[in-house]
Amino acid sequence: MSDGHDLEAMLARFREELGRAGDDKALYELQVRFLGKKGEVTGLSRSLGALPPADRKAFGERINRLKQTVEAELAARADALAEQARAAELANIEDLTFQRPRASLGSLHPITRTRRELERVFAGLGFDVLDGPHVESAQYNFDDLNIGPDHPARDMADTFFVEPPAGSKIGPGELVLRTHTSPVQVRTMLTRTPPIRIVAMGTVFRRDDDATHSPMFHQIEGLCIDRNVSMADLRLTLYRFVGAFFGRELQVRLRPSFFPFVEPGAEFDMQCPFCGGKGCSTCKGSGWIELGGSGMVHPKVFSACGLDPELWTGWAFGFGIDRMAMLQHGIDDLRLMFEGDVRFLEQFPC
Ligand code: FA5
Repeated sequence: MSDGHDLEAMLARFREELGRAGDDKALYELQVRFLGKKGEVTGLSRSLGALPPADRKAFGERINRLKQTVEAELAARADALAEQARAAELANIEDLTFQRPRASLGSLHPITRTRRELERVFAGLGFDVLDGPHVESAQYNFDDLNIGPDHPARDMADTFFVEPPAGSKIGPGELVLRTHTSPVQVRTMLTRTPPIRIVAMGTVFRRDDDATHSPMFHQIEGLCIDRNVSMADLRLTLYRFVGAFFGRELQVRLRPSFFPFVEPGAEFDMQCPFCGGKGCSTCKGSGWIELGGSGMVHPKVFSACGLDPELWTGWAFGFGIDRMAMLQHGIDDLRLMFEGDVRFLEQFPC
């Protein structure tokens, strides 16, 4: 069975089938049929032992040549099929010069960037960074902060009241969208034991809407409680913060003001970072930029939060993150920050 004629016939059969094999799967099956363990060419090798010893060498060489031919032709056919597939793919592309547009990368919103920068600076000054819920009890947002029932902030015109869930025991007017981050002071005093050194950052809501007031904006609140802390510590902390945030020495000043939850209360300003206090269009010629409110924690707030006002002293401050971002980036209309206009956002690449 294993004379030269059989090998020629086997190769002819292989070539015929190879011509019909139109894909990788068919090629693989052909490979198995001829070169696999139980394949036809492999079978020839096994028949070697049945030949007279004198014929074995020559026949073995012929089997090897056949095997090499089959292998080479299988590989060549695989290449040809791949080439055909590629040509078919190219034939389907209408414009060979077409380039896929580069996906545009997003970037962080300017407020997020300012917020993260504030977080980094205050963490560096030894403050824990917290947030609290947006839907807040009027108790924490107003009452415990010594904001009495007749305070104008409690008016429907200023505050978004939240309707309590149906069937709940919460009465009308008892739930609000927090109007400032100060309720986090209450939550912190109720849950932590002094000494306390925290900043709370987050979204707050008021019925406001113009170029410098948004119904949804962001505040940061600082709170420090310990024995014997004073306005001097407050001012030093604000001075350190402003210096670290703007990367240069800037003065800070306190001006007497009123907030029900602090006594004494003060507005705080910083020296204008753009003109260094000489007066420019950003600071409207005054050399100072108003940042926010501050003061010593009111004894009534301590009592409402279960801390003995005879034992503990504390200060707090709060200011708008959005206004800080506007200042940093020279933006004059707050509404731009919240409209999501890509043309505006694209101006703040990471
Ligand atoms: C307060 O909200 C006090 N809770 C701050 C405070 C904390 C005082 C601790 C004392 C001690 P005020 O209402 O002034 O304060 O708001 C603080 C800052 O929020 C303002 O200076 C301003 O930067 C920003 N702000 C207020 N309303 C808006 C608004 N509608 N849109 C954008 N920013 C606003």
